[in-house]
Amino acid sequence: MHPLQCVLQAQRRGPWASVSWLLLRTCRAQSSVHGTTCPGPERQQENGVRKDFSSRLAAGPTFQHFLRSALDPQEKPDVEDPPPYLTVDELSGRQRKVYLETYGCQMNVNDTEIAWSVLQKSGYLRTRNLQEADVILLVTCSIREKAEQTIWNRLHQLKALKTKRLRSQVPLRIGILGCMAERLKEEILNREKMVDILAGPDAYRDLPRLLAVAESGQQAANVLLSLDETYADVMPVQTSPSATSAFVSIMRGCDNMCSYCIVPFTRGRERSRPVASILEEVRKLSEQVLQLIHERDNICKQIHLPAQSGSSRVLEAMRRGYSREAYVELVHHIRESIPGVSLSSDFIAGFCGETEEDHLQTVSLLREVQYNMGFLFAYSMRQKTRAYHRLKDDVPEEVKLRRLEELITVFREEATKANMASVGCTQLVLVEGVSKRSATDLCGRNDGNLKVIFPNVEIEDVSNSGVRVRAQPGDYVLVKITSTSSQTLKGHVLCRTTLKDSSAYC
Ligand code: 5AD
Repeated sequence: MHPLQCVLQAQRRGPWASVSWLLLRTCRAQSSVHGTTCPGPERQQENGVRKDFSSRLAAGPTFQHFLRSALDPQEKPDVEDPPPYLTVDELSGRQRKVYLETYGCQMNVNDTEIAWSVLQKSGYLRTRNLQEADVILLVTCSIREKAEQTIWNRLHQLKALKTKRLRSQVPLRIGILGCMAERLKEEILNREKMVDILAGPDAYRDLPRLLAVAESGQQAANVLLSLDETYADVMPVQTSPSATSAFVSIMRGCDNMCSYCIVPFTRGRERSRPVASILEEVRKLSEQVLQLIHERDNICKQIHLPAQSGSSRVLEAMRRGYSREAYVELVHHIRESIPGVSLSSDFIAGFCGETEEDHLQTVSLLREVQYNMGFLFAYSMRQKTRAYHRLKDDVPEEVKLRRLEELITVFREEATKANMASVGCTQLVLVEGVSKRSATDLCGRNDGNLKVIFPNVEIEDVSNSGVRVRAQPGDYVLVKITSTSSQTLKGHVLCRTTLKDSSAYC
């Protein structure tokens, strides 16, 4: 089995709502069974609860169940019965090439693969080359104003491509998928005549029909939200065969209604994937999640815990459901349970009513927790949200940006300090591929999901009598860390190993 990192997305309410996903790494075990777990047999017997948990995990599906590569490429297109105004032939993709571009969050990565899965079954081909595409689909994000602006700009670029193409034989079709389609609906079709189709997050099954309608030169849209669509039968986990990570989506939508957030309006009501009641399983795990991360080598020791603000007053206005104190308590609990855990967070600068004192509270939270990774944003008011109706977007833009800069500076200082602790340590790294910045370096992730860069040199394979090899994506290597910044670690690669063979380092 190809080693995979698997990301379980499990958003929950209250302080725990922030534990949004787990990174699981498969061991390079020879056996094909249950790649997500490789517990030592002795450990399993130690504790009845754990044993029970292990056997429940073991009874679950293997990763092969989820992989697209399990699909037979020769499989005939699975074209549904056409509506009365379309023929079967018109409804099928007829080998037209689709180019998919993804913006935004992990759910959008997942949505892209769902949309692709639907189109592939309907006889479309996928291309990674924009120039040869017959259909270009943008999986869009509405979370912040800037995210939408990026997509408007991209549409202007694509307009030129389409105009050029109109003179050729096959007209280029352009579609907007996901949150922006849902939020703006026909406004997009009216504003950008070159957009042919719109599909909201719950309408991806309808893509073949929408594209078939577009073929006749009409614009087509489906932005209906659903109470129960989870795409569970489309593809529980999507990944390219060479990828080292995959997203396992266990729910869609959100009912939390945080006062700044557009998501409940673009993704609709919260609903869980029914398959094997995955959500229930994750809920049952809540305290056990920490135990599991602590004791299993194949689960990354990393938790994303979005705080949004360090001020209890602002957290209340945001309707986050926890105070600063509860959040800090949770951080201590996590750190005690999983020594060396890597923590990441999201923060919003300049939320409605945020005072200088509130802002300083956020600065102090960043100092107190010392995150390893951070995602920091200036607040942008989103229509339909509770904040839009009830609160005033009263922090001036320049103040928001100044506060954001301050948060970024403090985050970087603290992350640099936190990462310094790794210098001199030998870490187990899952190789992802060639470094973006240097063709002679490789890039991978350590157990805290931090990026590690190291030279691509010949190394010994300790699991294969010391044969000399070059590390490939998906391999595990040991790297001695020599320097760090706020974002990455750098080091010397020592050898290739396996999850099983490597013991804890540093
Ligand atoms: N303005 C600024 N940031 C926002 N986020 C969500 N909505 C907004 C908004 N209206 C940020 C939060 C969230 C992340 C995905 O985006 O920090 O955790």
